[in-house]
Amino acid sequence: MHIVMTGATSGFGANAAGRLAAEGHRLTIGARRPDAVVPGWNAMALPLDLDDFASVDTFGDAVAKGPAIDALVLNAGLQTAALETGAEGYERTFAVNQLAHFRLLCRLLPQLAPGVRVILTGSGTHDPEEGTMVTPPAHANAEWLAFPDRDPTLPKGARSQAFRAYSSSKLANIMTARELARRRPDLAAMSFDPGYVPWTGLARSSGKILSSLVSLILPLTMKRDRKSTVAKSGEYLAALAAGPAYAGAHGDYWSVRNPALKRIEPSALARDDAACAKLWDDCERLLGLAKA
Ligand SMILES: NC(=O)c1ccc[n+]([C@@H]2O[C@H](COP(=O)([O-])OP(=O)(O)OC[C@H]3O[C@@H](n4cnc5c(N)ncnc54)[C@H](OP(=O)(O)O)[C@@H]3O)[C@@H](O)[C@H]2O)c1
Repeated sequence: MHIVMTGATSGFGANAAGRLAAEGHRLTIGARRPDAVVPGWNAMALPLDLDDFASVDTFGDAVAKGPAIDALVLNAGLQTAALETGAEGYERTFAVNQLAHFRLLCRLLPQLAPGVRVILTGSGTHDPEEGTMVTPPAHANAEWLAFPDRDPTLPKGARSQAFRAYSSSKLANIMTARELARRRPDLAAMSFDPGYVPWTGLARSSGKILSSLVSLILPLTMKRDRKSTVAKSGEYLAALAAGPAYAGAHGDYWSVRNPALKRIEPSALARDDAACAKLWDDCERLLGLAKA
């Protein structure tokens, strides 16, 4: 298979990419540090900075001209310690995690033949019912997420605001997979919740000491079935991309429920089809992709 992937230079995404390469798949990896792609994989590493939409377009154009795609794995993501404005003027977490991936997806959609798998990495933090320590989303209003100063529901406190920006961006990823399945039922669209995976680079904005402490302490406070590892979540992500069991996905939400990967229902808002369609339309409008 030819697998196009973001987020393959660190964390469980790198583990998944290594597995896919070892299974003999051909990879095209978009990375802001292309030299971090492990030499020896059958991989072409192309520059991609999701914080820079010109870079997203250049990457999308190059991929569109390349060999046919069998799976598109949109796994890159970041979490910040406070709200930030990204290079494009939108809130950075929403811009990188959702808008840039959505832009890339829209660019590549005409190239995706029936049966192609599209996987967006979401997170259990999107669901208020999960009771994670991350402030849950209050809505999926793309304009408010892109411009938090317009959001009347913005929580107080830098940490809560940043946590909610993260969980909301992951909600948007999950809703995008669901809406993609409605718009392109010929594709195998799905989203992935890797569980809690300590010792990745995700919390790096909190600094090395705090993120190491979180990796040590948080698992002690969590239910056993929500804990994962880089190796386990890497194995599951690789299976979603290329394993025969997942070829027929249709907007499914796959969640690590240690020791298994289970198809479960996402949050009530993520199951709201009208909200999913509106989010798609609003992202198109924000990015200037809407047809007149
Ligand atoms: N760890 C968890 O507990 C957890 C739980 C739920 C969901 N997730 C999601 O899982 C995915 C992978 O996270 P992880 O925990 O493995 O974290 P990670 O080790 O920090 O990996 C994140 C990946 O995204 C890439 N990335 C970040 N910003 C980018 C940008 N501007 N342009 C291009 N690539 C960029 C990183 O590239 P660099 O190598 O250059 O940094 C890296 O490859 C993310 O979408 C995250 O939201 C993680």
